[in-house]
Amino acid sequence: MTITSSSSWQTLQDHAQQMQHSHLKELLLDESRFKTLSFAHGPLLIDFSKQRIDQHTLKHLVELAKTADLPGWITRLFNGDPINTSEARPALHTALREQAQTSLEVGGHNIIQDVQTNLSRMEKIVERIHSGQWRGYAGEPIDTIVNIGVGGSDLGPYMACSALRGARVNAGRHLKVHFVSSMDGSELADILGSLNPATTLFIVSSKSFTTIDTLSNAHTARKWLRDASGVNDTIINRCHFIGISANPAKMSSWGIADDNQLEFWDWIGGRYSMWSAIGLPIALRIGMDGFREMLQGAHSMDQHFLSAPLNENLPVLLGLIGVWNVNFLDIHAHAILPYDGRLIHLPAYLEQLEMESNGKSVNRVGESLDYRTCPVLWGEVGPNAQHAFYQLLHQGTESVMCDFIVSARRYEKTDNESLRSQHTLTLANCLAQSRILAIGSAVQQNDQPVPGHKQYHGNQPSTTLLLDELTPFSFGSLIALYEHKVFVQSVIWDINPFDQWGVELGKTMATSLLKPLQHQASDSEFDPSTHGLMRHIHQQQER
Ligand code: F6P
Repeated sequence: MTITSSSSWQTLQDHAQQMQHSHLKELLLDESRFKTLSFAHGPLLIDFSKQRIDQHTLKHLVELAKTADLPGWITRLFNGDPINTSEARPALHTALREQAQTSLEVGGHNIIQDVQTNLSRMEKIVERIHSGQWRGYAGEPIDTIVNIGVGGSDLGPYMACSALRGARVNAGRHLKVHFVSSMDGSELADILGSLNPATTLFIVSSKSFTTIDTLSNAHTARKWLRDASGVNDTIINRCHFIGISANPAKMSSWGIADDNQLEFWDWIGGRYSMWSAIGLPIALRIGMDGFREMLQGAHSMDQHFLSAPLNENLPVLLGLIGVWNVNFLDIHAHAILPYDGRLIHLPAYLEQLEMESNGKSVNRVGESLDYRTCPVLWGEVGPNAQHAFYQLLHQGTESVMCDFIVSARRYEKTDNESLRSQHTLTLANCLAQSRILAIGSAVQQNDQPVPGHKQYHGNQPSTTLLLDELTPFSFGSLIALYEHKVFVQSVIWDINPFDQWGVELGKTMATSLLKPLQHQASDSEFDPSTHGLMRHIHQQQER
């Protein structure tokens, strides 16, 4: 039986018919709405009162979650059952933030012990770099870090380093931290000219250590060091390269020195890996204490997800309301709108987390689904997006669900009045936008009809995620919240959220195109478009 033939799905469909007729401007006339539809845990309050729901919707959605055995799936996730069935693995990112004294057996082995051992190794490396003991080929202390990675080996640490840049906790010497991901080498080419090879350390991050994007950038970086230093590869590898991977053999064959290797495991998905050694740039940027605070924030959300009743459980509600929007209100676009410049990379991070996890059209056993799954996600720092794509949110033809993310406190500890008022301005804009999206504008003003081009139809649902303050702890909670939200939705949609087979064919196809491109041979086995484009590229290259 599929979820769509369950009675809880049918009930929600009937309920949606009724709710289609209620506009948010009417729903928001209810004074008690905020009280009944906002929920808090730790430093995070989530307001669902601008969603097109009522108490019945939540009740029916919780029934749907029970029908899909969400509580059972949560237990299986945390217990380390091999729920990533297509790869026969558990998905144990939660173990990375588990308390040191607990234990969790996977294959007869306590993995919490491994996690702790790795954290200690990571801490030693951080100490050596922060104290200036880690020196480059010329004997000078390292002052610049370049993380080379892509996807899950880039987006998490990149986002966190930006989000937490002001939150240094016992972070030792200040280091410049750069991120390089793009296959075409453009980011690397941009920064190499301004870097000092003698004081630059590269972190090559790749779960598989086979990703061509990352290995190409690492190769270019090593060549740059070789040319600039004139020293041999053994010294370059020992002084200037750290590797982070679940594949130590590949790290070794690339040349990463044994002591410079940090490992994680195949039971951590790439896009769930910023809590592992992949988070080394975060620890270098904000200090190991800050990194541990971030883990604690995530752990606190894990505990909440495990133990809170479904109808008060933040990730459960966030996930279920997303399902409501997609499957019952027919909304297939989702905008991520942080009102905080530090969260500039959150949209890109969530694009991978959500769309690589749940962007699927077959169930866990490979059968086609007859219902919609992951919506299209995109986003931008909210105030900037106000001057860009909000026009479509307010007056376009697409229904879009929005997440507004903002902190209540920002510059309280400074005496900079001007910055404080900028924060107030930001809060005012955040609240104004979600309010207009919900209630729209009047169709009449002073007894005159408002012209169509000035009308705002409203009824665009949004959730506001209000952090007390952006700290390593609250940030860890926020990201774990989204991870679990994605899991909740995968359970309802009967999807395996931990594989990503849809990215494989592109890699094979690119390999088969390399030779004809390099040898300027146009191979007619390709389709006419690919063939024509190759011919044009060759003509341009011959000029
Ligand atoms: O191609 C997709 C992907 O496998 C992502 O899932 C992953 O985060 C990224 O590539 C990078 O992979 P790796 O860490 O193995 O280099």
